[in-house]
Amino acid sequence: MPEFDTRDPLDPSFWDERFARQFMPWDAGGIPEQLRTLVASRDAAADADIVPPVALIPGAGSAYELDLMCEAGWDATAIDFSPNAVARARKVVRRWPERVVQADFFSYQPEKKLDVIYERAFLCAMPPEHHARVVQRWAALLPHDGLLAGYFFFGDAGKGPPFAIARAELDALLAPHFTLVEDEPVPDSLPVFEGKERWMEWRRR
Ligand SMILES: C[S@@+](CC[C@H](N)C(=O)[O-])C[C@H]1O[C@@H](n2cnc3c(N)ncnc32)[C@H](O)[C@@H]1O
Repeated sequence: MPEFDTRDPLDPSFWDERFARQFMPWDAGGIPEQLRTLVASRDAAADADIVPPVALIPGAGSAYELDLMCEAGWDATAIDFSPNAVARARKVVRRWPERVVQADFFSYQPEKKLDVIYERAFLCAMPPEHHARVVQRWAALLPHDGLLAGYFFFGDAGKGPPFAIARAELDALLAPHFTLVEDEPVPDSLPVFEGKERWMEWRRR
């Protein structure tokens, strides 16, 4: 583990430093399987009857998933508050660099009503005392029937990032706003998340 100058994951410079030094153990280097399945099930580019979902990827990092969503006709935006993450994502995405926006998730206002929020390694980037704040923002951004879909990292709260969350704690935070509609093990986890993450889809009440 290299030595870093920045220790506060609430500060964009924490992430900037890690992107600059290519220390990104969370970075999948591509698109996880269960997201592919979800996007394929709502592929507006392949089926004219499907209304293209408006999607947000908060804390998108390299934003590999943005390409997949946009190729499927989704109206997707990736946001990240780290300038280095944004610069990297704009190189990763091929045709839609303008859909990568430098913004803080807690103040970002989408231009359109969202249908989908995609979660991967964003909640666990936050110290546990900020988990409730993330959930509140998800709930505020998604209208009735909106979908929160992605990967959730479980375990006892400890040092991080990644900061795990207890299953009961996540359920208690989400249940007032969302109904759980999918909950599956993850076949293609990175070592840092292996055996501790689940693919979940939560529908906004
Ligand atoms: C662990 S990385 C995960 C990146 C990406 N989701 C992935 O799966 O590879 C967490 C990301 O969240 C970003 N981030 C943290 N807090 C943020 C905030 N308040 N607003 C926007 N981005 C934030 C960081 O800059 C970093 O790129």
